[in-house]
Amino acid sequence: MVKNFTWRAGSVLPKIEEHSDRKLQVIERYLEVYFDTVAANPRQDRLNITLVDAFCGGGLYDACQGGATRPGSPLVLLEGVRRAEAKLNLGRIKPIRIDADFLFSDARADHLEHLQSTIQSSEFSDSLGSSIHLKVGKFSDLLPEYIRHIRARQTAGRSIFILDQFGYSDVPMRSMQQLFASLKKVEVLLTFSIDALLNYLGDNPSVESTIAQFGVDTSFLSKWQDWKFDAALGRSTAQRTIMESIASQSGAKFFTPFMLRSPSDHRWMMLAHLSQNQAARDKMLGVHWELQNSFKHMGRGSLYQLGFDQRCIESSASLFNFVEGDRATMITELESELPRRVFDLIRGGELAVQSLLEIIGNQTAATNSDLFLVLGALSADRDIEIRKSNGGMKRPGTAIAANDTLILPVQPKFFLPKPARK
Ligand SMILES: C[S@@+](CC[C@H](N)C(=O)[O-])C[C@H]1O[C@@H](n2cnc3c(N)ncnc32)[C@H](O)[C@@H]1O
Repeated sequence: MVKNFTWRAGSVLPKIEEHSDRKLQVIERYLEVYFDTVAANPRQDRLNITLVDAFCGGGLYDACQGGATRPGSPLVLLEGVRRAEAKLNLGRIKPIRIDADFLFSDARADHLEHLQSTIQSSEFSDSLGSSIHLKVGKFSDLLPEYIRHIRARQTAGRSIFILDQFGYSDVPMRSMQQLFASLKKVEVLLTFSIDALLNYLGDNPSVESTIAQFGVDTSFLSKWQDWKFDAALGRSTAQRTIMESIASQSGAKFFTPFMLRSPSDHRWMMLAHLSQNQAARDKMLGVHWELQNSFKHMGRGSLYQLGFDQRCIESSASLFNFVEGDRATMITELESELPRRVFDLIRGGELAVQSLLEIIGNQTAATNSDLFLVLGALSADRDIEIRKSNGGMKRPGTAIAANDTLILPVQPKFFLPKPARK
């Protein structure tokens, strides 16, 4: 076990590294956005949810700021729900209660004991044993029990799973499939050390079940012999191929990977958001844009494909940052690429905006509002017409919404990629 993630009673706290802190910030902000969205209805007075932290650790870090501490992921979840409830109730006539259950587990008993004493000395101590459940065990072993627990509370299974494994092998793909097949409203934040997997391959790799589940088969391994000598492009193609495999094997409809580099062990980690819901994916993308943090996205931002993407070779662009300059480039690229995609999809003469969002959902770092902007420009140019959900037509250039429908004009202009703006 790595020193940065070791907790023992009476021992010094592990020091938090910057990339772990960033990851926790994403969870903090995502919870805020999540509750604002799912509890937006002012008439709603109760929200039932289960938050699972199945690699919970000991609950507290040394923040490396003169004795200050930094709460770990289980405390981030507890505080996130408390803050969300207080914020939702500000100015609300009918108060809402977030009825949350917390399932925290870790394979190590000493880590869980540390977490227990951390919670005991916190404002959440009264909830230990009632809404906070602690259990020693491996994630894959505990999962069936967790699924039963969640479904017993709510058939739709509204839940968020934080799966912050250290390496890559403790969240098997069959567990992910089990999760997405059993719980309709589950969302997962998965940490996956892609570079640890690639480093493991070394010079004499062979296919075995632990890595085969992530697409590392004989074909991958023969390409890896070339890829591994190209530190930039070859490695990123290998990383994207593994992502593609996870995306297709997980059972989740939407998969949004972000990359984060750990300076201490020089490895790229992936933090992926998985869900069955396009709006959830959009919210998570929004958090990354907003925090503009040290996360990167592999490849271009506009429309991309995981695995091998010829355009990465052409442009040598394998990393995309969530900063404003990149957003401008992304929008310019979208302005030239999206019309062709819309034209291909609109074959029957119309296309629901929601369907477009779902179809390209896994292939862009653009948020829905970025896409609406580009669609709005197409409508202003009268390349497409927009029908509202009530059947009426929108004036060209009016703001687009997810429940609109795109319609090919009676006399369609031929969609040609627009020249990139200088
Ligand atoms: C990266 S640390 C988690 C840090 C924590 N999420 C946080 O942000 O504070 C990973 C934890 O997973 C635990 N672990 C390792 N293998 C596991 C498994 N198969 N199932 C559950 N926990 C495991 C380790 O003991 C360690 O505490």
